[in-house]
Amino acid sequence: MNDPASQPLPADGRGRLSALLRLWPFARPYRGMIALTFGGALLATLAQLAVPLITAAIVDGPIAAHDRAGLIPLIGLALVFGIAEAALFFLRRWAMNKSCLQIERDLRDTLYARLQRLPVAFHDRWASGQLLSRATTDVSTVRRFVGFGAVFLAVNLVTCVVVLALLLVRYWPLGLAVLLTTVPLSGLALRWERRYNVQARSVQDQQGELTTDVEEAVQGIRVVKSLGRSGLVFDRYDAKATRLRTLQLKKVRTLALLWCVFELHPQLTLAMILVGGAVAVHAGALTVGGLVGFVALFTVLLWPILSLGFLFAFAQEAASACDRIGELLDAPITVTDRPGVRPASLGSPARLRFEGAGFTYPGSTSPVLDGIDLEIAPGETVALVGATGSGKTTLTALVGRLYDVTAGRVTLDGVDIRDLPLTQLRSVVAAAFEDATLFSMSVRENLTLGRPDASEADVEEALRVAQAEFVHDLPWGLATRIGEQGLSLSGGQRQRLALARAVLGRPSVLVLDDPLSALDVHTEKLVERALREVLAGTTALVVAHRPSTVLLADRVALLAGGRIAAVGRHTDLLADVPAYRNLLAQDSELAEVPS
Ligand SMILES: Nc1ncnc2c1ncn2[C@@H]1O[C@H](COP(=O)(O)OP(=O)(O)O)[C@@H](O)[C@H]1O
Ligand SMILES: [Mg+2]
Repeated sequence: MNDPASQPLPADGRGRLSALLRLWPFARPYRGMIALTFGGALLATLAQLAVPLITAAIVDGPIAAHDRAGLIPLIGLALVFGIAEAALFFLRRWAMNKSCLQIERDLRDTLYARLQRLPVAFHDRWASGQLLSRATTDVSTVRRFVGFGAVFLAVNLVTCVVVLALLLVRYWPLGLAVLLTTVPLSGLALRWERRYNVQARSVQDQQGELTTDVEEAVQGIRVVKSLGRSGLVFDRYDAKATRLRTLQLKKVRTLALLWCVFELHPQLTLAMILVGGAVAVHAGALTVGGLVGFVALFTVLLWPILSLGFLFAFAQEAASACDRIGELLDAPITVTDRPGVRPASLGSPARLRFEGAGFTYPGSTSPVLDGIDLEIAPGETVALVGATGSGKTTLTALVGRLYDVTAGRVTLDGVDIRDLPLTQLRSVVAAAFEDATLFSMSVRENLTLGRPDASEADVEEALRVAQAEFVHDLPWGLATRIGEQGLSLSGGQRQRLALARAVLGRPSVLVLDDPLSALDVHTEKLVERALREVLAGTTALVVAHRPSTVLLADRVALLAGGRIAAVGRHTDLLADVPAYRNLLAQDSELAEVPS
């Protein structure tokens, strides 16, 4: 499989924490809020630090001196700090959620817009589940990290530094000992970073695999049921789910080990402090209050140190989510406007020409199309005929730049279509494809998707041409919301709606990829009759399988071996080109064809 997402993580250190820097452009607009979050969290933690210091002062001051009155201001001070901490907690929660939810929204929008702009060739290669899991799970992972992990990672690191500094100031020999114990801890964390990162990434990729499976199972439910292969499909899914579990368990094991060490470390250090402190107090180098303060300060460190273990893992996960999202944001947009393109003035209808046009699918070695020369005069209709797999669909996709030619060029009125703004090209060229994709919107929204400015009369006209007036009989007429992919409609109905969408507003260039394949003979005749009027006014390339569709065209082009093997009038080709005769003769309707 050439799905880039299923390729193993390269060993070049991709997915390191530095991947998180990618988030900066998204965080930048909210940096004020983020600073507020960070400041609030830091102040709250520092307020917390005041309590041990006050405790030490109470032990060495009023308690040692049996001075009750002296207790009151110190306890009052501790209270003030406690209240300040609570207020700052609120500030942090509020500022944090505000900024991180906004960042999430921006990230989602950017990703969605990117998926829309990425060329069809990109979507050919990527499993949709991988895209789905990136757009949902990974974005959420990043949001949770930004909103929670990042702030605490930073605050806890700062807290560690400040507390260690305070410990050094209060009694440097013990402080130094505590500092030294963090060295092996950091070393261990760094070593595990890489391992955890690879594991987190493979879990996320496997989640994408599962998403793909669920999506395909739901979309292909009819096929699976009718083939009676629910069991097989389930087994495949189960195997993948089991693999996910295995990968997750591996990840959990690493995390548990990490936790274990981060949990043990402060306990051992505390024991060391107590022993060392007792010796120091005994030797008169430290007061009892000093030791109490030292221990109380150290206990402030317990949570930050413990949390660093999982925050680190969290950061890892967010980093690999960033990587996975980054792969989409970095995927090149190959079909795009050239710098400085300007709209050209094109005739309506325009002249369409393929000039030595060739196309090779990415990753493929041999071209599908190779030196296509074909000219369609303004207002002319050319039928494209060829065996299955001869490249008809590919050729039609070149006109609207769903793919860019890999050789030669395609022109409209002599202008290379790559020198037209995509918006202009796609407003000039309308298309209907073999699979009539409809969206979960109303019939009207589906129809006017490409031409939001279409008038009511245009819509009626398009419905008439496509013989799709049945929509008026739907429960809410044109306002009826049709299901995902229009599943509540028959194949023929969907195809007629897709055709109506294409002919809406009489486009200047019309590309139809076998638009009548799902229609019954009677409806097909009606559509053909109405389509003939539309075709008279546009330049059209129509993929055809049946002689009756071919007869709509002024000329026919036979596609074979990646080239236009013959062009001419249907009757002439039928008489002179055996390959053409063979292709169309398989159709029983041939008998009806006038010669
Ligand atoms: N997305 C794709 N990636 C790689 N190869 C493709 C893709 N789509 C089609 N092909 C290949 O290109 C050839 C032409 O396909 P297509 O244009 O769909 O033919 P037709 O419409 O005439 O049946 C076939 O051999 C097909 O396997
Ligand atoms: Mg095709």
